Amino acid sequence: MSTGKFITFEGGEGAGKSTQVRLLSNSLQRHGKKIVMTREPGGSIKAEAIRKLLLEGRVAKFGPFAEALLFSLARDDHLESVIRPTLNKGSWVICDRFMDSTLAYQGAGGNLPASLIRALERTVVGDTIPDLTILIDLPPEIGIGRAQARQKQNTGGDPDRFEAMNMKFHTRLRKAFLDIAENAPDRCVVFDGQAPPDELAKKIWDLVSQRYSLAPKIAM
Ligand code: TMP
Repeated sequence: MSTGKFITFEGGEGAGKSTQVRLLSNSLQRHGKKIVMTREPGGSIKAEAIRKLLLEGRVAKFGPFAEALLFSLARDDHLESVIRPTLNKGSWVICDRFMDSTLAYQGAGGNLPASLIRALERTVVGDTIPDLTILIDLPPEIGIGRAQARQKQNTGGDPDRFEAMNMKFHTRLRKAFLDIAENAPDRCVVFDGQAPPDELAKKIWDLVSQRYSLAPKIAM
């Protein structure tokens, strides 16, 4: 049996990834694909426990290297217990953030050498590299504004560890994601996150349906 496709979404804070992950998953399901929608950090029981430590900022005092190790540890469990078994069954995995977030946040954002992040990536990800990565690009001022509004609505509380970083950090992140996409043009496609969500969803669907030859469903 053929393996499923592995699609990841990447971008800075407030880019609208989660909405697009859901909309693409729904469209693929309507086309008869079996989907597992997941996220990083998290996506498995152990990785969700690590997510809590990371986003509450309890690892921050140990520095970006410790954070990169913990993101990688969470990823290792997520890959072993969810991503690889799902792909091997022929289902598709749609994941909100993956390895590029480590290179952008802990690499460019946290000033860790890219060679170190790449070494972790080779060890943990191996050849389970995404088939397609959708990068939603957005000026950080807009993304942070959106993330703050969402945070207030959901919890009335404080931003998480990474949302709370300054604008310089978020500007470095944006550039890092765009550089990653430029260096991996076969895997990464950049979309403008300022487009209205339904317009963006249509553009993403056009790309995915063309790339994987998914014929439009004919109404019966
Ligand atoms: P999100 O679910 O809101 O995208 O939150 C995840 C946060 O974790 C986000 O601020 C980005 C950060 N992150 C990293 O710093 N490194 C990583 O490898 C991953 C997957 C996420």
